[in-house]
Amino acid sequence: MAGSRQLAVAALLLVAAAGVCTRLPPAGALGVNWGTMASHQLPPSSVVRMLQDNGIKKVKLFDADAGPLEALAGSGIEVMVAIPNIMLDMMTDYDTARDWVHKNVSAYNFDGGVNIKYVAVGNEPFLSSLNGTFLNVTFPALQNIQRALNEAGVGDTVKATVPLNADVYESPKDNPVPSAGRFRAEISGLMTEIVQFLNQSGAPFTVNIYPYLSLYGNAGFPLDFAFFDGTTSPVVDTNSGISYTNVFDANFDTLVSALNAAGVGGLPVMVGEVGWPTDGDKQATAAYAQRFYAGLLKKLASNAGTPLRANQYVEVYLFSLIDEDVKSVAPGNFERHWGIMRYDGQPKYAMDLTGQGRNTALVGARGVEYLPRAWCVLNANAPAESMSRLGDNVDYACSNADCTALSYGSTCGGLDAAGNASYAFNAYFQVQNQEVEACGFQGLAASTTQDPSTGTCNFSIQIETASSSSSAGPGRPLLVSLVLAFVVVVTL
Ligand SMILES: *[C@@H]1O[C@H](CO)[C@@H](O)[C@H](O)[C@H]1NC(C)=O
Ligand SMILES: *[C@@H]1O[C@H](CO)[C@@H](O)[C@H](O)[C@H]1NC(C)=O
Ligand SMILES: *[C@@H]1O[C@H](CO)[C@@H](O)[C@H](O)[C@H]1NC(C)=O
Ligand SMILES: *[C@@H]1O[C@H](CO)[C@@H](O)[C@H](O)[C@H]1NC(C)=O
Ligand SMILES: *[C@@H]1O[C@H](CO)[C@@H](O)[C@H](O)[C@H]1NC(C)=O
Ligand SMILES: *[C@@H]1O[C@H](CO)[C@@H](O)[C@H](O)[C@H]1NC(C)=O
Repeated sequence: MAGSRQLAVAALLLVAAAGVCTRLPPAGALGVNWGTMASHQLPPSSVVRMLQDNGIKKVKLFDADAGPLEALAGSGIEVMVAIPNIMLDMMTDYDTARDWVHKNVSAYNFDGGVNIKYVAVGNEPFLSSLNGTFLNVTFPALQNIQRALNEAGVGDTVKATVPLNADVYESPKDNPVPSAGRFRAEISGLMTEIVQFLNQSGAPFTVNIYPYLSLYGNAGFPLDFAFFDGTTSPVVDTNSGISYTNVFDANFDTLVSALNAAGVGGLPVMVGEVGWPTDGDKQATAAYAQRFYAGLLKKLASNAGTPLRANQYVEVYLFSLIDEDVKSVAPGNFERHWGIMRYDGQPKYAMDLTGQGRNTALVGARGVEYLPRAWCVLNANAPAESMSRLGDNVDYACSNADCTALSYGSTCGGLDAAGNASYAFNAYFQVQNQEVEACGFQGLAASTTQDPSTGTCNFSIQIETASSSSSAGPGRPLLVSLVLAFVVVVTL
């Protein structure tokens, strides 16, 4: 698409904010996504403590598992629980929806219970790459869940919404500006019904916006347009005369225009996911993530809003809280590295959630327990003839553990072949809780107590978990959380 005179501008964006400048913003307004697709999970109580230590008062879940919900009870933290896409079909039956609400919402609604504010009905169910699988079931499920919430007597305070990817709207190729934003043609009628329903029920529109993916997917995308510090190539909306200096604003306003066209121009918009990954790709770095969040949080704190929604408060959930090493890498090798915290709940870079740009670190998880200081590496004394089996063994390790840090441009992308093999063997050994048999690899591997980490490349040691030997599997299907931000092609 993007020819030499065109710029793919994906839009991303968000933020908004609103308010009065003297007020300290947002720690109160900020939420985070708490995903649990990790082989070794921090105890839910540690995660909740970490949220509290950082003043984070809102959290978005991808399910309604009892562990996190019980840990959140009594914390006062606002919670969005979720119904995974594969359960949407079941929710088209009202009795099933009512049971879900009783068990997963009403049951926590007591003094000292969980402060549930939203139910996410599906997760990006209309993503183009899902081929329409959930088109028929999402709206009936949304209606049933809101009705069940109303009938359970909690409908005034708990709202059902559908987190959607920014690819549900776009601007026409021949007029690629935010003011021309409309819902994607083939789902336009359905989207119009959904947004009118949300408007009636008093629920917000929830959108996931990813400037990083705009950059990742488009070689010609101007790097500075993905951030918030100004750009040498602003996008001028020829209809409105507005000059956009970042893709987040451009994307958000494309949605605002689509909502206007659907007759619900005042519908509140909440950003369900926004963030920047730190590994697995050349532009997925801690330095860029730090720069992105610094700009985003400052923008939120200034209450500037976006050009079409100036001075309007927008609720934002950062994606995500913690790295998840068993997520699918279908979207890209960066997919397991979206956390503002590492796998062990420790911060990756300086971040000031209040948006004042102070050089402060988030508070990490407390009391994390690690496995012993032991690693598994390539055995320097392995017999020469066994080296022919190295490739197969590395592949085996990497298909059962996370090797995405070895990708080109990533933190461990500079290792030589021997370093690669060591990294892979160690990743597998750690996932297997350092079981002795997990460091065999047909005689090619050996364990060591000497840290093989290099300057930028960490050979991590896994954390101890309550069930350290039964890694929490990917029980949940497609958590494709982040997916493609849509792309506006702008002719320069
Ligand atoms: C509550 O949510 C969990 C997690 O999504 C799900 O497995 C369970 O079936 C739900 N309960 C009911 C009664 O639907
Ligand atoms: C969608 O269709 C494409 C192309 O036919 C296919 O490769 C992909 O697996 C499908 N995805 C899903 C989720 O069905
Ligand atoms: C959705 O409903 C239409 C019309 O009834 C049908 O043609 C289509 O196959 C359905 N799609 C799915 C994914 O079930
Ligand atoms: C949206 O909601 C407002 C008030 O809540 C109402 O006045 C308006 O008619 C609604 N619009 C639609 C299209 O339902
Ligand atoms: C190391 O592994 C990565 C990922 O598998 C691969 O792309 C790279 O070529 C390997 N490097 C060497 C020197 O073998
Ligand atoms: C490597 O680990 C150390 C602590 O063990 C941490 O301080 C550092 O940030 C990590 N580096 C990367 C690239 O993850």
